[in-house]
Amino acid sequence: MKIFKSKHKLKEEISNIKNISFVPTMGGLHKGHISLIKKSQNYKGKTLVSIFVNPKQFNEKKDFINYPRNLKKDLKILKHLKVDLIYLPSFKDVFSFQVKNKIFLDKFSKKLCGRSRKDHFKGVLNIVNRFLELIKPKYIFLGIKDFQQSYLISKHILKRKINTKVINCNTIREKNGVACSTRNNNLNKNQFKIASNVIKYLKNKKRLIKKEFFNSKSITIKKDLINLGVTKIDYIEFYNSKTLRQPKSKREKFKIFIAFYLNKTRLIDNI
Ligand code: PAF
Repeated sequence: MKIFKSKHKLKEEISNIKNISFVPTMGGLHKGHISLIKKSQNYKGKTLVSIFVNPKQFNEKKDFINYPRNLKKDLKILKHLKVDLIYLPSFKDVFSFQVKNKIFLDKFSKKLCGRSRKDHFKGVLNIVNRFLELIKPKYIFLGIKDFQQSYLISKHILKRKINTKVINCNTIREKNGVACSTRNNNLNKNQFKIASNVIKYLKNKKRLIKKEFFNSKSITIKKDLINLGVTKIDYIEFYNSKTLRQPKSKREKFKIFIAFYLNKTRLIDNI
Protein backbone atom coordinates (compact mmCIF):
# COMPACT_ATOMS: atom_id res chain seq x y z
CA MET A 1 0.00 0.00 0.00
CA LYS A 2 1.49 3.33 -1.08
CA ILE A 3 0.35 6.55 0.53
CA PHE A 4 0.61 9.91 -1.26
CA LYS A 5 0.11 13.34 0.19
CA SER A 6 1.28 15.25 -2.85
CA LYS A 7 -0.48 15.29 -6.22
CA HIS A 8 2.86 15.53 -8.03
CA LYS A 9 4.18 12.36 -6.42
CA LEU A 10 0.88 10.62 -7.01
CA LYS A 11 0.80 11.64 -10.68
CA GLU A 12 4.36 10.42 -11.13
CA GLU A 13 3.44 7.05 -9.63
CA ILE A 14 0.28 6.54 -11.68
CA SER A 15 1.49 7.92 -15.01
CA ASN A 16 2.18 4.41 -16.32
CA ILE A 17 -0.88 2.72 -14.85
CA LYS A 18 -3.52 2.12 -17.48
CA ASN A 19 -6.57 1.13 -15.47
CA ILE A 20 -7.28 2.89 -12.23
CA SER A 21 -10.37 2.11 -10.21
CA PHE A 22 -11.03 5.12 -8.00
CA VAL A 23 -12.94 5.14 -4.72
CA PRO A 24 -13.28 8.70 -3.34
CA THR A 25 -14.07 8.90 0.38
CA MET A 26 -14.11 11.35 3.24
CA GLY A 27 -12.76 8.68 5.59
CA GLY A 28 -14.65 7.28 8.54
CA LEU A 29 -14.61 4.07 6.55
CA HIS A 30 -17.45 1.61 7.08
CA LYS A 31 -18.92 -1.51 5.47
CA GLY A 32 -20.30 0.58 2.60
CA HIS A 33 -16.82 1.85 1.68
CA ILE A 34 -15.36 -1.62 2.11
CA SER A 35 -17.89 -3.00 -0.34
CA LEU A 36 -17.00 -0.26 -2.89
CA ILE A 37 -13.31 -1.07 -2.49
CA LYS A 38 -13.84 -4.82 -2.81
CA LYS A 39 -15.94 -4.27 -5.91
CA SER A 40 -13.22 -2.07 -7.42
CA GLN A 41 -10.67 -4.81 -6.78
CA ASN A 42 -12.61 -7.15 -9.07
CA TYR A 43 -11.71 -4.87 -11.97
CA LYS A 44 -8.43 -5.08 -13.86
CA GLY A 45 -5.78 -2.58 -12.77
CA LYS A 46 -5.12 -0.80 -9.51
CA THR A 47 -7.41 0.59 -6.86
CA LEU A 48 -6.87 4.12 -5.60
CA VAL A 49 -8.72 5.35 -2.51
CA SER A 50 -8.73 9.02 -1.54
CA ILE A 51 -9.48 10.29 1.94
CA PHE A 52 -10.27 13.99 2.14
CA VAL A 53 -12.92 15.74 4.20
CA ASN A 54 -13.84 18.41 1.71
CA PRO A 55 -14.78 21.67 3.49
CA LYS A 56 -16.37 23.07 0.33
CA GLN A 57 -19.25 20.62 0.45
CA PHE A 58 -20.30 21.45 4.01
CA ASN A 59 -22.78 24.25 4.22
CA GLU A 60 -22.20 24.66 7.96
CA LYS A 61 -18.80 25.01 9.59
CA LYS A 62 -20.01 23.14 12.67
CA ASP A 63 -21.02 20.18 10.53
CA PHE A 64 -17.55 20.11 8.96
CA ILE A 65 -15.90 20.20 12.38
CA ASN A 66 -18.16 17.48 13.79
CA TYR A 67 -17.75 15.17 10.79
CA PRO A 68 -16.34 11.90 12.21
CA ARG A 69 -12.66 11.32 11.41
CA ASN A 70 -10.40 8.40 12.26
CA LEU A 71 -7.42 8.25 9.92
CA LYS A 72 -5.52 5.65 11.92
CA LYS A 73 -8.42 3.20 11.80
CA ASP A 74 -9.04 4.00 8.11
CA LEU A 75 -5.44 3.22 7.15
CA LYS A 76 -5.61 -0.05 9.07
CA ILE A 77 -8.72 -1.04 7.12
CA LEU A 78 -7.14 -0.07 3.79
CA LYS A 79 -3.98 -2.00 4.60
CA HIS A 80 -6.01 -5.05 5.51
CA LEU A 81 -7.85 -4.75 2.17
CA LYS A 82 -4.49 -4.52 0.40
CA VAL A 83 -5.46 -1.33 -1.41
CA ASP A 84 -2.72 -0.34 -3.89
CA LEU A 85 -2.73 3.45 -3.65
CA ILE A 86 -3.99 6.00 -1.15
CA TYR A 87 -4.25 9.73 -1.75
CA LEU A 88 -4.45 11.90 1.37
CA PRO A 89 -4.28 15.44 0.05
CA SER A 90 -4.20 18.64 2.03
CA PHE A 91 -6.61 21.43 1.09
CA LYS A 92 -3.79 23.28 -0.66
CA ASP A 93 -2.61 20.26 -2.61
CA VAL A 94 -5.97 19.57 -4.17
CA PHE A 95 -7.33 23.10 -4.56
CA SER A 96 -4.22 24.92 -5.75
CA PHE A 97 -4.33 24.17 -9.44
CA GLN A 98 -6.33 25.43 -12.36
CA VAL A 99 -8.81 22.88 -13.64
CA LYS A 100 -9.47 22.17 -17.27
CA ASN A 101 -13.15 21.35 -16.98
CA LYS A 102 -15.74 23.68 -15.56
CA ILE A 103 -18.21 22.11 -13.17
CA PHE A 104 -21.49 21.10 -14.76
CA LEU A 105 -24.41 21.20 -12.32
CA ASP A 106 -27.46 19.43 -13.69
CA LYS A 107 -30.83 20.91 -12.73
CA PHE A 108 -31.53 17.91 -10.48
CA SER A 109 -29.05 19.57 -8.11
CA LYS A 110 -31.82 21.97 -7.13
CA LYS A 111 -34.01 19.18 -5.75
CA LEU A 112 -33.80 17.09 -2.54
CA CYS A 113 -30.52 17.83 -0.71
CA GLY A 114 -29.81 20.76 -3.04
CA ARG A 115 -32.73 22.68 -1.53
CA SER A 116 -31.51 22.70 2.04
CA ARG A 117 -27.75 22.35 1.57
CA LYS A 118 -26.74 25.41 -0.39
CA ASP A 119 -23.67 24.87 -2.59
CA HIS A 120 -23.25 21.31 -1.31
CA PHE A 121 -23.25 19.70 -4.75
CA LYS A 122 -21.13 22.50 -6.18
CA GLY A 123 -18.57 21.59 -3.50
CA VAL A 124 -18.83 17.87 -4.25
CA LEU A 125 -18.39 18.41 -7.99
CA ASN A 126 -15.52 20.80 -7.42
CA ILE A 127 -13.47 18.18 -5.59
CA VAL A 128 -14.55 15.22 -7.75
CA ASN A 129 -13.72 17.19 -10.91
CA ARG A 130 -10.24 17.84 -9.50
CA PHE A 131 -9.74 14.20 -8.56
CA LEU A 132 -10.83 13.08 -12.02
CA GLU A 133 -8.40 15.47 -13.66
CA LEU A 134 -5.48 14.39 -11.46
CA ILE A 135 -6.14 10.66 -11.42
CA LYS A 136 -7.86 10.06 -14.77
CA PRO A 137 -9.42 6.85 -13.48
CA LYS A 138 -11.06 4.33 -15.77
CA TYR A 139 -13.80 3.80 -13.17
CA ILE A 140 -15.16 5.71 -10.22
CA PHE A 141 -17.12 3.75 -7.60
CA LEU A 142 -20.03 5.50 -5.90
CA GLY A 143 -22.71 4.30 -3.52
CA ILE A 144 -26.36 4.86 -4.41
CA LYS A 145 -27.22 5.75 -0.84
CA ASP A 146 -26.04 9.12 -2.15
CA PHE A 147 -28.18 8.72 -5.25
CA GLN A 148 -28.34 12.40 -6.09
CA GLN A 149 -24.58 12.82 -5.74
CA SER A 150 -23.90 9.87 -8.01
CA TYR A 151 -26.43 11.10 -10.56
CA LEU A 152 -24.90 14.59 -10.65
CA ILE A 153 -21.35 13.25 -10.95
CA SER A 154 -22.48 11.07 -13.88
CA LYS A 155 -24.07 14.08 -15.58
CA HIS A 156 -20.92 16.15 -15.10
CA ILE A 157 -18.75 13.37 -16.55
CA LEU A 158 -21.07 12.99 -19.53
CA LYS A 159 -21.33 16.72 -20.22
CA ARG A 160 -17.59 17.32 -19.98
CA LYS A 161 -16.80 14.16 -21.98
CA ILE A 162 -14.57 12.79 -19.24
CA ASN A 163 -13.25 9.32 -19.92
CA THR A 164 -14.35 7.73 -16.65
CA LYS A 165 -17.19 5.30 -16.09
CA VAL A 166 -19.34 5.59 -12.99
CA ILE A 167 -19.97 2.27 -11.23
CA ASN A 168 -23.01 2.63 -9.00
CA CYS A 169 -22.97 0.32 -6.01
CA ASN A 170 -25.84 -0.85 -3.85
CA THR A 171 -26.45 0.56 -0.40
CA ILE A 172 -24.97 -1.54 2.38
CA ARG A 173 -27.05 -1.66 5.54
CA GLU A 174 -26.46 -2.49 9.18
CA LYS A 175 -28.33 -5.51 10.56
CA ASN A 176 -31.08 -3.21 11.79
CA GLY A 177 -31.67 -1.79 8.30
CA VAL A 178 -29.92 1.57 8.75
CA ALA A 179 -27.77 2.47 5.75
CA CYS A 180 -24.06 2.49 6.58
CA SER A 181 -22.88 6.07 6.90
CA THR A 182 -19.95 7.80 8.55
CA ARG A 183 -22.49 10.06 10.24
CA ASN A 184 -23.92 7.06 12.14
CA ASN A 185 -20.88 7.48 14.40
CA ASN A 186 -22.55 10.60 15.78
CA LEU A 187 -25.70 8.71 16.85
CA ASN A 188 -26.25 7.36 20.34
CA LYS A 189 -27.86 3.96 20.91
CA ASN A 190 -31.35 5.35 21.14
CA GLN A 191 -30.98 7.46 17.99
CA PHE A 192 -29.61 4.44 16.12
CA LYS A 193 -32.73 2.52 17.15
CA ILE A 194 -34.97 5.37 15.97
CA ALA A 195 -33.13 5.43 12.62
CA SER A 196 -33.78 1.72 12.32
CA ASN A 197 -37.47 2.18 13.10
CA VAL A 198 -37.70 4.90 10.44
CA ILE A 199 -36.28 2.59 7.77
CA LYS A 200 -38.52 -0.29 8.86
CA TYR A 201 -41.53 2.00 8.79
CA LEU A 202 -40.71 3.28 5.30
CA LYS A 203 -40.08 -0.22 3.97
CA ASN A 204 -43.31 -1.60 5.40
CA LYS A 205 -45.37 1.32 4.33
CA LYS A 206 -43.91 1.84 0.88
CA ARG A 207 -47.09 0.62 -0.76
CA LEU A 208 -49.34 2.50 1.55
CA ILE A 209 -47.19 5.58 1.24
CA LYS A 210 -47.70 5.47 -2.49
CA LYS A 211 -51.42 5.39 -1.97
CA GLU A 212 -51.25 8.18 0.56
CA PHE A 213 -49.01 10.13 -1.73
CA PHE A 214 -51.52 9.89 -4.52
CA ASN A 215 -54.16 11.06 -2.11
CA SER A 216 -51.74 13.82 -1.06
CA LYS A 217 -51.73 12.69 2.54
CA SER A 218 -47.96 12.55 2.96
CA ILE A 219 -48.42 14.75 6.03
CA THR A 220 -49.47 11.64 7.99
CA ILE A 221 -46.13 10.02 7.18
CA LYS A 222 -44.29 13.02 8.56
CA LYS A 223 -46.41 12.84 11.71
CA ASP A 224 -45.68 9.13 12.09
CA LEU A 225 -41.96 9.73 11.71
CA ILE A 226 -41.99 12.47 14.32
CA ASN A 227 -43.86 10.08 16.62
CA LEU A 228 -41.08 7.55 16.08
CA GLY A 229 -38.66 10.09 17.53
CA VAL A 230 -37.35 11.93 14.46
CA THR A 231 -36.33 15.49 15.39
CA LYS A 232 -37.02 17.09 12.00
CA ILE A 233 -37.74 15.96 8.46
CA ASP A 234 -35.80 17.86 5.86
CA TYR A 235 -37.66 16.18 2.98
CA ILE A 236 -39.50 13.06 2.06
CA GLU A 237 -40.16 12.76 -1.65
CA PHE A 238 -41.06 10.13 -4.19
CA TYR A 239 -39.32 9.79 -7.52
CA ASN A 240 -39.06 7.29 -10.28
CA SER A 241 -35.27 6.92 -10.11
CA LYS A 242 -35.00 6.40 -13.88
CA THR A 243 -37.04 9.38 -15.04
CA LEU A 244 -36.55 11.53 -11.92
CA ARG A 245 -40.22 12.40 -12.16
CA GLN A 246 -42.78 11.79 -9.51
CA PRO A 247 -44.64 8.56 -10.27
CA LYS A 248 -47.84 9.14 -12.17
CA SER A 249 -49.46 5.76 -12.08
CA LYS A 250 -49.73 3.33 -9.22
CA ARG A 251 -47.92 0.69 -11.24
CA GLU A 252 -44.87 2.89 -11.77
CA LYS A 253 -41.75 2.00 -9.78
CA PHE A 254 -40.53 4.64 -7.41
CA LYS A 255 -38.16 5.29 -4.55
CA ILE A 256 -38.69 7.17 -1.35
CA PHE A 257 -36.00 9.78 -0.82
CA ILE A 258 -35.63 11.01 2.72
CA ALA A 259 -33.42 13.34 4.76
CA PHE A 260 -34.10 13.64 8.45
CA TYR A 261 -32.51 14.80 11.65
CA LEU A 262 -31.93 12.90 14.87
CA ASN A 263 -31.01 15.75 17.14
CA LYS A 264 -28.19 17.47 15.17
CA THR A 265 -27.30 14.49 12.97
CA ARG A 266 -28.72 14.57 9.45
CA LEU A 267 -29.22 11.22 7.73
CA ILE A 268 -30.25 10.52 4.14
CA ASP A 269 -31.51 7.36 2.49
CA ASN A 270 -33.52 6.10 -0.44
CA ILE A 271 -35.70 3.04 -0.30
O1 PAF B 1 -19.56 10.74 -0.76
C1 PAF B 1 -18.54 11.27 -0.27
O2 PAF B 1 -17.91 10.76 0.65
C2 PAF B 1 -18.07 12.61 -0.82
O3 PAF B 1 -19.13 13.41 -1.18
C3 PAF B 1 -17.04 12.47 -1.97
C4 PAF B 1 -17.64 11.82 -3.19
C5 PAF B 1 -15.83 11.69 -1.48
C6 PAF B 1 -16.55 13.88 -2.38
O4 PAF B 1 -15.97 14.57 -1.32
